[in-house]
Amino acid sequence: MNIIETIHHRKSCRTFDTRPVDPESLDELGRFTESRPRPSPPFGSAADFHLLDFGDMESGELKKLTTYGVIKGARHFIVGTVKSGPKAMEDFGYCLEEIVLKATMMGLGTCILGGTFKRSGFAEKVNLGEGELLPAVTPVGYPHDKRSMVDRMFRTLAGSDNRKPWKELFFHDHSSRELDYDDAGEYSDCLECVRLAPSASNRQPWRVIKEGRADAFHFYLKRTPGYENAVKDIKLQNIDMGIAMCHFALSAGERGLAGIWDVHDPGLEAGDLEYIATWSGHSN
Ligand SMILES: Cc1cc2nc3c(=O)[nH]c(=O)nc-3n(C[C@H](O)[C@H](O)[C@H](O)COP(=O)(O)O)c2cc1C
Repeated sequence: MNIIETIHHRKSCRTFDTRPVDPESLDELGRFTESRPRPSPPFGSAADFHLLDFGDMESGELKKLTTYGVIKGARHFIVGTVKSGPKAMEDFGYCLEEIVLKATMMGLGTCILGGTFKRSGFAEKVNLGEGELLPAVTPVGYPHDKRSMVDRMFRTLAGSDNRKPWKELFFHDHSSRELDYDDAGEYSDCLECVRLAPSASNRQPWRVIKEGRADAFHFYLKRTPGYENAVKDIKLQNIDMGIAMCHFALSAGERGLAGIWDVHDPGLEAGDLEYIATWSGHSN
């Protein structure tokens, strides 16, 4: 599978086969996850990821690490930390999603957890340092062929099989002029990859405004009021944004479209949207 196919194929998995991941795959994923230096994320934050094996833990103890019995059967987890700072959440989401897509390509299931896990339990395992945040984790393993009842319930509650239509997500020049698939030209598949991104509670908070005829795509957040005040400095919707940016950049790379991220609010008419970053294609 190439990147775009992988993005289309990925779905969150909360029910795992108890069969251990084969050692070669584990080794390959571990090297990718923990490689140093990681390719720098768009805003240069220091993010670190670990592939942990909880196989020696009592199953009751393991169950307590993921609350509500949401995750079944997994013994491996990818745990990430990032130094607190501007755009740290976007960088964290970007890097975590690169690992999620690598695992997906290898036939492994994942489910990013930002809420239903015991943050302090994982923090202890990675010796979380001063000024570091542990925003999310994901189990990783072979997907079970049948989803548990809790898994199915989560998918139904979040409407995980659905995505908002293009006209609610993508715009031209200002936030009230819709951009359709054909208008996006060479970038249409990249925006479709943004649309398919996973997001906390499937809120899909990303909005993109394409400016003029140029390959300039401005990314904005449509924040859900009151959604994420639970843990100071951890903003799940900014993680969602980093994931969407990762999908955009990796799919653009696969289509041979080079570009860079920068932060320079173009001052477009964007209503209540919060500006985050701009992709400028090199053909500009
Ligand atoms: C930042 C983030 C946090 C998430 N937190 C949780 C969580 O705490 N528990 C959970 O079961 N799923 C969680 N999810 C998974 C979403 O519910 C899921 O991505 C969304 O419903 C779309 O489904 P899909 O990933 O199968 O496409 C999270 C996803 C993201 C991106």
